[in-house]
Amino acid sequence: MIVAGGGRVGNMTSDQTSGTTFPRDTVPLNDGGQIPLLGFGTWQIKGDQARQSVIWALEAGYRHIDTATIYGNKAEVGAGLRDSSVDRDEVFITTKVPGGSTGREAETLHASLEKLGTDRVDLWLIHWPTDGGADVQMWQALIDAQKQGLARSIGVSNYSIPMIDEVLAGTGVTPAVNQIELSPLLFDRDLIGHHLKRNVVVEGYSALRGGTLDHPTIVEIAKRHGKSPAQVIIRWHLQRKIVVIPKSVRRERIVENADVADFELSTEDMDALDGLGSP
Ligand SMILES: NC(=O)c1ccc[n+]([C@@H]2O[C@H](COP(=O)([O-])OP(=O)(O)OC[C@H]3O[C@@H](n4cnc5c(N)ncnc54)[C@H](OP(=O)(O)O)[C@@H]3O)[C@@H](O)[C@H]2O)c1
Repeated sequence: MIVAGGGRVGNMTSDQTSGTTFPRDTVPLNDGGQIPLLGFGTWQIKGDQARQSVIWALEAGYRHIDTATIYGNKAEVGAGLRDSSVDRDEVFITTKVPGGSTGREAETLHASLEKLGTDRVDLWLIHWPTDGGADVQMWQALIDAQKQGLARSIGVSNYSIPMIDEVLAGTGVTPAVNQIELSPLLFDRDLIGHHLKRNVVVEGYSALRGGTLDHPTIVEIAKRHGKSPAQVIIRWHLQRKIVVIPKSVRRERIVENADVADFELSTEDMDALDGLGSP
């Protein structure tokens, strides 16, 4: 959705409906779908705070919400979606089935759909590998759910490249997404390249943890652009075409993290940030 007041900075498209310069760009998934590059994370947001945060996020322009069965907040996320003025169909919703719940996938998904108040999710992920294994049987259950139209796209989280290869070899279906911990400090060009080669979109989590916000290189780049360290980290993901899902319970930070389409990191900035991940 691009509306009056929108525009482009560098290769990013924005709109300003929400008072932020929200980046509207999506990346293609290997099943023909699209995923918005910037989403809203909801881990550790509980109770009415989850409902309220989702409403604020939708107001700020987010159209992509990340949750999971173990977050225990799907009913509140669903309430936030219902209580906002945004149509469910405009929002990309991800949830995750816990690793190790093999055999209970269908009941887990039906419970998620009911709590979220929807008849399908946009992305359903295996949250983590079971006992360090790829769990081809669970992956097959996700494929079945996709065939039934209960999940538009399916993927994995915290999977290694050999595990992705294992589920592909076992079923013939490549995960559309691998959600993994990522920030400039964890950047590994080869790992990203292995995902790209397999047509798996990388979705990063916990980008604002692990000392990223205080890192002197990130702080310096942020000062130079008149932006915050969080905005620089989020913008780095967007320019790398890596999906990023910052979480906050504070309205001003939810807005700040969304206001990232009005500046561009230079090639030198991007190289400096990439370099933080080098051993
Ligand atoms: N697949 C997995 O295994 C997995 C694991 C972890 C996370 N995730 C997903 O990824 C999402 C993001 O990761 P995360 O929750 O670990 O957190 P994050 O987005 O890295 O944020 C970490 C903390 O930074 C603070 N923060 C947010 N915006 C800020 C800003 N502009 N300036 C300063 N501080 C700021 C937040 O605190 P306040 O809330 O107090 O603002 C938040 O608790 C999760 O919510 C979840 O949806 C997935």
